Amino acid sequence: MHQRRDPEVMRLKILNLKLLQPEVAMAAGRHVMRAVKVFEFGGPEVLKLQADIPLPVPGENQVLIKVHACGINPVETYIRSGTYAKKPALPYTPGSDVAGVVQGVGEHVTTFKKGDRVFTLGTISGGYAEYTISSVDTVFSLSDKLDFKQGAAIGIPYFTAYYALFQKGSAKAAETVLVHGASGGVGIAACQIARAYGLKVFGTAGTEEGIKLVLQNGAHEAFNHKKKDYLTQIKEAAGAHGIDVVIEMLANVNLAHDLQLLSSGGRVMVRMHPHE
Ligand SMILES: NC(=O)c1ccc[n+]([C@@H]2O[C@H](COP(=O)([O-])OP(=O)(O)OC[C@H]3O[C@@H](n4cnc5c(N)ncnc54)[C@H](OP(=O)(O)O)[C@@H]3O)[C@@H](O)[C@H]2O)c1
Repeated sequence: MHQRRDPEVMRLKILNLKLLQPEVAMAAGRHVMRAVKVFEFGGPEVLKLQADIPLPVPGENQVLIKVHACGINPVETYIRSGTYAKKPALPYTPGSDVAGVVQGVGEHVTTFKKGDRVFTLGTISGGYAEYTISSVDTVFSLSDKLDFKQGAAIGIPYFTAYYALFQKGSAKAAETVLVHGASGGVGIAACQIARAYGLKVFGTAGTEEGIKLVLQNGAHEAFNHKKKDYLTQIKEAAGAHGIDVVIEMLANVNLAHDLQLLSSGGRVMVRMHPHE
């Protein structure tokens, strides 16, 4: 899976959350952990590492997870900057896509136990922390085939891609999908899943490196969305039938062009996640 390098990732690396191992904290009888807190909305500099955050306690339908990796999605940065429609109460700890190991469960939780490897689709107390709690209905078993970093890339990217392709886009095997912006988190997931379901997959990227990545992750053909004639190339590749489903990452720029590429009955997915 794809690991992004953006200012938020770099900031967390600098904060080096791994310095204090959680088991050390617990063995020492401490009930605090390290976590990143946001006290005011703004740029990456508002992410503040705190060493004295109380360990969260799971409620009856909640799971306490020792965080091994936490994904960072664009939405995390929109929320942190204060530009997102839904704002959390301050202070808060960001992070919804966590992978880790169950440390404890609430009294009504029967599906997980201490020691299980899991990933989440959301957290209650925030994922940029040594421990987090999640509602049990947003926790899933993590396959042994995936490491924790891969597990932390599933939540928003893969669930969004699946939801956009099939639950909203009604994509079917043998149809043609254009993943418009295929080199990022959601795009790579969409290419992999669409190829696995037997669709003809076209993807776009803005660099040669991105084009390679898109082709390695399931696209039959890849196009550079920074080149002037790329839409003509897509049109030619799609032939007279056109594109059945467009998964669009930058609708404010591309929507009008997408409509020109569609087949009769074609669909464009611009708002894709069930929880956004
Ligand atoms: N509403 C929802 O439900 C929902 C859920 C998840 C994500 N999203 C949104 O979907 C978008 C993608 O998320 P992500 O996690 O995949 O982000 P990401 O990893 O940052 O990827 C961004 C993608 O956009 C591409 N892009 C840049 N310029 C483009 C252009 N002119 N035309 C088409 N694509 C272009 C990038 O390609 P290059 O870097 O190769 O140029 C890259 O593939 C974000 O805006 C995110 O907020 C929405």
